[in-house]
Amino acid sequence: MIKYSPEIAKVTDPLFEKVKNVIPSVEWPIMAPLIYRINELKTEKNAVVLAHNYQTPDIYHCVADFVGDSLQLAMQAQQIDADIIVQAGVHFMAETSKLLSPDKTVLIPSLDAGCSLAASITGEDVRQLKRKYPGVPVVTYVNTSAGVKAEADLCCTSANAIAVVEAFGVDRVILLPDEFLSKNVAGQTDVEIIAWKGRCEVHERFTAEELRQYRKSSPGISILAHPECSPEVLEEADFAGSTSSLIRYVNVNRPPKVMMVTECSMSDNVSAEIGEDVEFIRPCNLCPHMKTINLQNIIESLELIRYEVTIPEDISSRARQAVQGMIDLEVEGKDFEQRSVLRSVVVEDRLSLSHLDTVSQ
Ligand code: 13P
Ligand code: SF4
Repeated sequence: MIKYSPEIAKVTDPLFEKVKNVIPSVEWPIMAPLIYRINELKTEKNAVVLAHNYQTPDIYHCVADFVGDSLQLAMQAQQIDADIIVQAGVHFMAETSKLLSPDKTVLIPSLDAGCSLAASITGEDVRQLKRKYPGVPVVTYVNTSAGVKAEADLCCTSANAIAVVEAFGVDRVILLPDEFLSKNVAGQTDVEIIAWKGRCEVHERFTAEELRQYRKSSPGISILAHPECSPEVLEEADFAGSTSSLIRYVNVNRPPKVMMVTECSMSDNVSAEIGEDVEFIRPCNLCPHMKTINLQNIIESLELIRYEVTIPEDISSRARQAVQGMIDLEVEGKDFEQRSVLRSVVVEDRLSLSHLDTVSQ
C-alpha cells in the first residue's frame, strides 16, 4: 500500500481541486495514493478506464479516461487505442465493450457488479417470446446479458430507445426487459410495444407522490428523471432522458435548484463540475451494483489482470450484430417529451409464457 507523500500530493492536488466540493479533505490522503497508483498502472499496462455516470467522483473525475452514458461508453469502447479496458460500471457494460472491442482485454473490477434488469431475463425467455409473437422485431435494452442480446434484432439504450423502436417502420415491436422504459417509450410513439416485467431496482423506488412533496417543500425546483422510472414519475418531472441528457440539461439550463431522479453519484459528479450556483436536492437511490466498483478493486484488476470478460463465440457474433446494428443506425438520441400518450402495454413474464412449454411438448 503506497503512503500519501509530498510527491503524491503534488501530482494529485490538481485532481483534488476538481472534486473538493464533493470529497471531504480528510478523505483525500487515503484516496490520493490509490488514484496515483491507478494512473501509474494505466500507463504501464496501456490501459484505459471507462466509467459510467453513476460511478463515484473519485473514479469519475480522477481515474476515468472516458465517462458517459451506456451509449457513449459503447461507442467509445470501439474507438479506444489501448490494450486493456477497465470497465468502471456494471457487467453488461463490460460485455458490450468486449463485443465492440473483441481484440482488447476487458476487465470488470468486481464480479458482483450485476444489474436487476439484466438479471430479469434470459436468452430462453426471448426465444419463448419470439415463438409467441412470430415476426415481431425484438429490441433489447443494452442492460441485458450478451446471451439476451444474441436473440435480438437490435439493441437500444435510454438515449435512443424511441428512435430504434421506430427504425423498423412496423406497427409492433417487442422492447425488453424494462417494463417502465417500455411504457415510457410507448407513450412517445405510435408503435405498439410489447414489454417484459423487469425493473431497475434503483429507479422503481421513486414515486410521483415523493416528487410532489419535493415540489411543495422546494418551490422553483427543476425535476429531472431517468426513463427507467415509472410513467407516473416521468409525468411529474420537468424533463426526462438518459443520464447524459440529464447532465446536459443541467449544464445548459443551470436551474437554481435541481433534483436528479436517478442514482446518487450523478448529482455529485455534476455538482463537482458546475460549482455552487446550482443547488442539488438529493433524494437519490444508490445502485448497489455500481457501488461494488472502487479504487482498490480497480488497482487489483490492473495489477492481476483480474476478472477478464469473455463471451462464447456463438453468442458474441450474434450479440455484436444487435449492438453494431444500433450504432450503424446513427439515430439521433431523443429525450422523452412531457406530452406522453397513455397507451396500454402488454407486459409479458415467465408465467404468461409458461403455456407455450405445454403446447410445444
Ligand atoms: P444510461 O446511462 O444509458 O442512461 O443508463 C442508466 C443506467 O441505469 C445504467 O445502468
Ligand atoms: Fe441496473 Fe438500475 Fe443499477 Fe443501472 S441503476 S445498473 S439499471 S440496477
